[in-house]
Amino acid sequence: MKIKILLSLCVAAVIGFSGPVHAAGEHIELPKQQWSFDGMTGTFDRGAMQRGFQVYKQVCSACHGLNRLSYRNLAALGYNEAEIKAIAAEATITDGPNDEGEMFERPGRPSDAFKKPFANDNAARYANNGALPPDLSLIVRSRAGGPDYVYALMTGYGDAPADVKMNEGMHYNKYFPGHQIAMAAPLVAGAVTYGDGTDASVEQMAKDVATFLAWASEPVMEIRKQTGIKVMIFLLVFSVLMYATKRKVWKDLH
Ligand code: HEC
Repeated sequence: MKIKILLSLCVAAVIGFSGPVHAAGEHIELPKQQWSFDGMTGTFDRGAMQRGFQVYKQVCSACHGLNRLSYRNLAALGYNEAEIKAIAAEATITDGPNDEGEMFERPGRPSDAFKKPFANDNAARYANNGALPPDLSLIVRSRAGGPDYVYALMTGYGDAPADVKMNEGMHYNKYFPGHQIAMAAPLVAGAVTYGDGTDASVEQMAKDVATFLAWASEPVMEIRKQTGIKVMIFLLVFSVLMYATKRKVWKDLH
């Protein structure tokens, strides 16, 4: 019995459930989606990640940064070196100062961090009706519901109920706390054309971008899970060995 309790404690510690912080106020029920990365053995679906990156790049990156990622991190999505070089080179990066003390522009390199959409927060607010589009690097970890929340937010736009008075420039969203969000619905069907022929419905793009952002929030998730499983197997084998040893050592004393 004790071994069981000990084992489950170890398991809990190894898996390290770190529940997201719940915001105070009205509780909004989020529909639960099926994710390839659910559970102890779940992994990120590479196809969904690549599609999600495409959605981020072509839609979200106009307003949202991903400051914890560099272009070379995209190798985890299955892109090769040449592809990553090409993706990085699409960005124009301000570098410097050069020998003359001037800043200059150059194409991005794989080692560069993802380019920020705005020079600073003031510029970002000015372009967005006073609201600051948050950096999305950790959004999946920092919002209750994680990927379910991102999916729900993307698909939760609609007309405000008659009794809700909307503030100017705000958009009704079922799943945003308070229901008034400064971000207009970012996804419309067909907003991107997927290279793999997948139909770009709003739901599909929402699911893909949430998968991509889940990876961005925890790029080492797969390694963490693998290590957890290895540690558990080790603990199990170790416990059996210790038990057998104990029996052997104490055998004659019974
Ligand atoms: C035109 C600019 C713009 C685009 C494009 C855009 N967003 Fe936003 N987004 C915003 C702004 C502004 C906010 C802050 C809204 C607020 O606080 O009311 C925001 C907030 C968010 C939030 C945080 C909501 C919260 O709980 O605080 C998420 C998640 C998000 N956006 C995801 C996305 C994704 C994913 C895309 C691409 C599919 C995207 N956004 C495209 C402007 C944009």
